[in-house]
Parts: sequence; C-alpha cells; structure tokens
Amino acid sequence: MNISFFNGNFIPHEEICISPDDRGFLFADGVYEVVRWYGKQFLDIESHTKRLKRSLAELRIDWTEADTFPSIAEELVTLNDLHGKQALVYLQVTRGAAIRTHSFPSPPVTPTVYASAREKKISQKGRGPGINVMLTDDIRWNRCDIKSIALLPNTMGFQEALDNNMQECVFIRNGIITECSHSNIFFVIGDTLYTHPESNYILAGITRTSIIRIAGENGIKVKEEPVRADDLHVIQEAFIASTSFEITPVTGIDGRKIGDGSPGPVTNLITARFEANLLPLKG
Ligand code: PDD
Repeated sequence: MNISFFNGNFIPHEEICISPDDRGFLFADGVYEVVRWYGKQFLDIESHTKRLKRSLAELRIDWTEADTFPSIAEELVTLNDLHGKQALVYLQVTRGAAIRTHSFPSPPVTPTVYASAREKKISQKGRGPGINVMLTDDIRWNRCDIKSIALLPNTMGFQEALDNNMQECVFIRNGIITECSHSNIFFVIGDTLYTHPESNYILAGITRTSIIRIAGENGIKVKEEPVRADDLHVIQEAFIASTSFEITPVTGIDGRKIGDGSPGPVTNLITARFEANLLPLKG
C-alpha cells in the first residue's frame, strides 16, 4: 500500500481528500519540491528545504513547519519500504482552502501540505548516447525562480518535445536560452562551461549548483552567462541537469547535431565526478 503525507498524517494515498476550495486547485497557488533518495540518503535535502522556504516566502505562504520536510521525507521512505532503492519524494504546499476570491484568505487559513514517495530509478534512456531537445518560446511568467506548481507552459512545452520525438524542451526568451521544462541546461564553448545566471528567468537548480562546484574543483572554467539561440552553431557540448534527469547529455538540438553527436569529454568528466559523489548515498 502506498502511504503519503497529508496535513500532518501519514495515510494510504487513496484516502487523501482535497477540498475543491483549495487554492492550489483553484489558482495553482502553491509551491513544490522534488528530492532524490539514493537508497541510504537524500541528495542535499538541506538545499531543497532552503529553496522551499524561499519559494514559500516569495508567495507569502506561511507554512511554519517547512523545516520538517526532511523528517517527513525520511518517514515516507521508511513507510514505503524504499531503503536500498532509488526514489523521488514530492512535497507540495498550497495556501490552503478558502472560498474562491483573488485576495488571500483573511484571516489566513492553514496551508495544505501533501507529500509522496515513489520508487524511481534514473532513466538510462538517453544517458549513454544523449538526448535530442527542442527549442521553444519561453512563455512562462517572469518569476521562474519560484518553484510554483503553476507549470502549464512547462508541461505544454515538454509534451510538444515528446510529440516531436525529442526528450526535453529548451526555452528561449528574447533570443536567450534560459532553461528547460524541468531541468537547467549547460553548454561547452571553447574551454568554458556556460549556463544561464541565477535570475528571475530560471529556477536555481540544486543539481546546477553542484555541477558548477564540481566543474570548479576540476579546473573547468565556468561562466554563468546566457547563451544566445543564434550561437548554437559554436557549441561543442551540451547537457541538462536536474533531480530527475541528473546529468543527461544533449547531442542534438532541433535536429542539429552537437559536436560529433556523442557526449563530449567535459560532459563525461562532470558526470563521472557527480556520480562518484553519490556513492556514499547509495544503499
Ligand atoms: N524540476 N528548472 C526547472 C524549471 C525545474 O523544474 C527543475 C527541477 C530544474 C532543476 O532543479 P533541481 O536540480 O533542483 O532538480 C530546473 C523538478 C525535478 C521537477 O519538476 O520534477
């Protein structure tokens, strides 16, 4: 039986009942986090908790128990028998349930908190040979730094990529590559690794931060500077990074081959170092 967390209780997933007045349902008025369990430990759940608290603060959702995220996640792993297995834990907090009106409920209502855990091995598909990605207009709002549950442009873009036999979509805003539907993107140009700087136009990925650190530790020059869509012809390597994709090489963009069409040396080096860091977390 799958056990989830709902408003303070661990209960069978099917027994969760959410009010039709919930502002997550009515307005996508909420935030979320996804953290990966490697069998023995989570990967950097402290940073995910910090980002969760920031997202909550930006939307003025007052969930005072945000620091309990790691213990909720641990308990879900235990209750769902996930020790020794790889899993993703999802947590979502909405402003709560109140009669529909655009203003925030006054007095405030208790936030709705839901979390679940499910076994999820890293998809090997594409990790060896690399994936193809599709360029698409970034039609999202300009607070992409908040991990909001309002993800329609992300799901639409991702589905469009899949429908065109590509495995992720890459957003372009004003000619600049920002990030992807659920990952950040990196490019190798010359001897330098490029990725969009932290700003309101991207989510500051936890995987992104560790890649920047790993690159620095291994003598790879990093520039947190945007790459223009017109400059794609000068790229030697590309890869995407997120909790769900980990590091996945990109070997084609909109049908155009990157480099020689196989993952390049910088991508391979960073992936090897990233994976070495994961070994102690595995069961
Ligand atoms: N997505 N950018 C976007 C838009 C994302 O949704 C994500 C993560 C990332 C990478 O962040 P991180 O490295 O912290 O996972 C970047 C999660 C995993 C998801 O929606 O499933």
